[in-house]
Amino acid sequence: MAATGILAQPEAFTGLRAVHLRHDLAAIADLIEICFTASLDAVGRSAIHEMRALSRTGPLLWVLARLGQGIPGMYGYVWVERGRLVGNVTVTPTGYGGGWIIANVAVLPEYRRRGIARRLMQAALAFVEERGAFAVLQVDADNEAALDLYAGLGFRVQRTFTRWRRPAYLRPPLLPQTMPNVRPLARTEADQLYALATSVRPDSRGGLGWLRPVTPAALRPARWAALRYALSGQRVETWVVPGEDGQLDAALRVEQRIGGLTRLFDLLVAPHRASELESPLLNFALRRLIAREHSALTDHPADDLAAGAALRENLFRPERVLAHMFRPAPAGDGQRPVSPGGGSVR
Ligand SMILES: CC(C)(COP(=O)(O)OP(=O)(O)OC[C@H]1O[C@@H](n2cnc3c(N)ncnc32)[C@H](O)[C@@H]1OP(=O)(O)O)[C@@H](O)C(=O)NCCC(=O)NCCS
Repeated sequence: MAATGILAQPEAFTGLRAVHLRHDLAAIADLIEICFTASLDAVGRSAIHEMRALSRTGPLLWVLARLGQGIPGMYGYVWVERGRLVGNVTVTPTGYGGGWIIANVAVLPEYRRRGIARRLMQAALAFVEERGAFAVLQVDADNEAALDLYAGLGFRVQRTFTRWRRPAYLRPPLLPQTMPNVRPLARTEADQLYALATSVRPDSRGGLGWLRPVTPAALRPARWAALRYALSGQRVETWVVPGEDGQLDAALRVEQRIGGLTRLFDLLVAPHRASELESPLLNFALRRLIAREHSALTDHPADDLAAGAALRENLFRPERVLAHMFRPAPAGDGQRPVSPGGGSVR
């Protein structure tokens, strides 16, 4: 892999500075590729590809910079050693609650353990604190170095999620002996679904998952589902198991795309039916796949052992475990720290 961007820093500057979009994009793409080789998935690889492509569109970047417009995900800081970009942190809005995501924290291997990541993180957190906001990030649960770094800066693990995958070539699941009454969520049941989600996955414990707080909008049944399917090939269905008094005992959302991956979201089971409904509900959803050769993916709280057992039973395999970390907004004492360089893209 060519590290052209990293080697082509002309200045002889050493230290921390805000990201300069026009100069830094290719170097950051190289840095991320080097530091995350083991964990980059297809999405990560295509993001790097897009960053490199964008770095070659000089005039567009110049216009964005002049307009004071950032590219989503490209606020942040870099560490430079004699003109060479060796470290990065990216700060990007959460899209809810006015918070900020800290991402792409990386330092080239030969420059590690010199305090560079800590300095980058301190600058990013000053940027966030200036805005009186909270910060979130996700990190591989076995990345001791990063967990240590973040814990030392006031982040706490909110919840850990396992990514489960069911490969396409596996046989379809066998029908369980007892199948509960599974039916589609009615549009009038949005409140009941919201009540189930807030009791099973409260926001204080990570909500529905990464960047998915429990909101009525996140759970609302899809409108015009048949039309959407006809136009885009995307089918979104929510299946529920009704309980007593009009409540819901379990729910599962399934998103399928023709010829693509099936994603399962929000496997929610009321505590009094835990270990009973997870497996039949998963089984039901898998049987409905557009084509049986679809592979399926889901992220689920790692501490939900009943769901873990049900996922294994339905031939899902754990792929990755990610800790979601949270750092609260500063207390409103009016003493907001000033961030060096402002953190905006220039
Ligand atoms: C994680 C990473 C960014 C740390 O960069 P760094 O510049 O070496 O970190 P620092 O020197 O600033 O260390 C700050 C603190 O982090 C922790 N830390 C960093 N490296 C560590 C290691 N190898 N083992 C244990 N703790 C470590 C320590 O608490 C350290 O404080 P200390 O030096 O007082 O003990 C770097 O190892 C890296 O780029 N790794 C690959 C990419 C990655 O995993 N990024 C995080 C993704 S969420």
